Amino acid sequence: TGRAVDTEVLVVGSGPAGAAAALSLSTLGVDNIVVTKYRWTANTPRAHITNQRTMEIFRDLGIEDQVLAEATPHHQMGDTVFCTSIAGDEIGRIRTWGTHPARHGDYELASPSLNCDIPQTHLEPILVANATARGTHTRFSTEYLSHTQDAEGVTARVRDRLTGHEHDIRARYLIGADGARSKVAADIGLPHEGRMDVAGSMNITFNADISDLVAHRPSVLYWVIQPGSNIGGIGTGLVRMVRPWDEWLIVWGYDIDGEPPDLDDAAAEQIVRNLLGVPDLEVEITGYSLWGNNEQWATHLQSGRVFCAGDAVHKHPPSNGLGSNTSVQDSYNLAWKLAAVLRGWAGPDLLETYSAERAPVAEQVVRRANRSAREFGQFFDALGIAPDDTEQQMRDEIAERGAATPEGAKKREALRHAMELKNYEFNAHGVEMGQFYTSTAIASDGSPRPVDDRDPELYYAPSTAPGARLPHVWVGDSARRLSTHDLARADRFTLFTGISGQAWADAVGEVGERLGVPIGAVVIGPGRAVTDLYFDWARAREVEEDGAVLVRPDKHVAWRADRLATDPVATLTDVLTGILSRK
Ligand code: FDA
Repeated sequence: TGRAVDTEVLVVGSGPAGAAAALSLSTLGVDNIVVTKYRWTANTPRAHITNQRTMEIFRDLGIEDQVLAEATPHHQMGDTVFCTSIAGDEIGRIRTWGTHPARHGDYELASPSLNCDIPQTHLEPILVANATARGTHTRFSTEYLSHTQDAEGVTARVRDRLTGHEHDIRARYLIGADGARSKVAADIGLPHEGRMDVAGSMNITFNADISDLVAHRPSVLYWVIQPGSNIGGIGTGLVRMVRPWDEWLIVWGYDIDGEPPDLDDAAAEQIVRNLLGVPDLEVEITGYSLWGNNEQWATHLQSGRVFCAGDAVHKHPPSNGLGSNTSVQDSYNLAWKLAAVLRGWAGPDLLETYSAERAPVAEQVVRRANRSAREFGQFFDALGIAPDDTEQQMRDEIAERGAATPEGAKKREALRHAMELKNYEFNAHGVEMGQFYTSTAIASDGSPRPVDDRDPELYYAPSTAPGARLPHVWVGDSARRLSTHDLARADRFTLFTGISGQAWADAVGEVGERLGVPIGAVVIGPGRAVTDLYFDWARAREVEEDGAVLVRPDKHVAWRADRLATDPVATLTDVLTGILSRK
């Protein structure tokens, strides 16, 4: 008989959600085990676009450089093409992921980290390796079967898939990061809204060097409008770069209400040749699979000591590239709270704020991604393509956009509008950076969610309103330049103030010690920890110089004060005991 296995947190799944949870927990010194069903990490590229908020998390976890080393960089991501095939007619381009010169500044200003493109096959090993190196026990080929929970913890039954041997793992908490068909979410009966399988898609991965067709218009996405591309799928046909410019993934739709297509090598090759528009292309097919587009989210993410994260609680098409990003962000929200409760500096009710904060995000990303997929309909409308058009009719309609006729002019104008709408999929900076939390772990001052008055989805509005992400600005001294995010460490609360607010900083030491809460202070000003190099902090902080901005370990603002309080120790004590559920 084996020994009982005991840990603080058991994580089920080693995808972006599970691996990020393990890495965060190990970084915070929390004992954890990951069990994951397969022999290794993701075996197909799947998610790839890694947005700035996620890159900030990777920066915080000390793996940003490793991710960048394996990623296609920001400047090669953005010349997104719409065409009749890769070698065929180009319908138009849109600069994406903040690469338009008029948008690039917004992205540069918002974060110390730019976005990049790293396929899931490359990202997961980085997350898992670092988690394991920092303490995670990673058990591959190990399947979660069931669990029970009691007042002190969770007992999970797992099976070693090599030997068939079953055993129990005892943990204080369980994180179900087991993907869209989550067994953990089903076992705790999480409530869901929306539905699964709203459209059919197939993925085809292949190798073919097509540098001569794409390298001059570098992008991670090439969208193809041709016969068949208005059926199912994620809007239209997609040729997606996996590695520039010889490794690719095609997403092509099928009618989910009909018979699933019979895919074999020959059929896959034909689809590749059609979308590339190169009839005699040398192509090596490396895989194919069918999958359903989902539009479903959980309205509550936890039950007792069990939490779900990632696709287990938000299922949606890849549009906007939010899948893996949101999964990492879920785990980052949860990990510090588990650490705080396990180490005794927060009350257990802090854990309830995970659902309060992340369930609205789950709904938002599912709605946004599905809307983006549907908005491709504008292209078919602009071109005058009806669902039952024949191939020839479709080709004629597409060709008409070049006609010197009123109809041609109308199509050109309509196409311009359809293209404009795709900013909501490809330049949705407000969606990516503007997550805002309302919960008992945020001491609101009544300020509403900050939104940019140009367009809240396209533009991110930095703010120190409690619940918002800490604004990034560069600060430092004659020797160093640091982001405000670099100064707000992952393992503690951080209070930012100015020289006239020194009394806040003095109070931090006393309150932290008395409450046993890890908290540090950063005084920004000449001769202090850092100086406001560009005077950007003064513009960003939205409080007076003697005010305070208190930031949580996950870089969201917990509380702020406009001016110095008469009794900073009492004020801070009150705030911290409130947001940490210790009252
Ligand atoms: P994920 O599904 O990645 O991981 C689940 C983990 O749980 C796996 O490690 C699995 O082994 C494990 N597991 C499951 N059941 C278990 C059990 N009973 N016991 C133990 N372990 C178990 N997104 C995007 O943004 N762009 C894209 O192009 C694509 N493309 C794409 C293609 C395909 C075919 C799929 C299926 C998905 C995508 N996605 C995507 C979505 C993206 O991959 C997805 O959002 C993230 O992988 C979600 O990460 P999770 O960690 O939540 O689940």
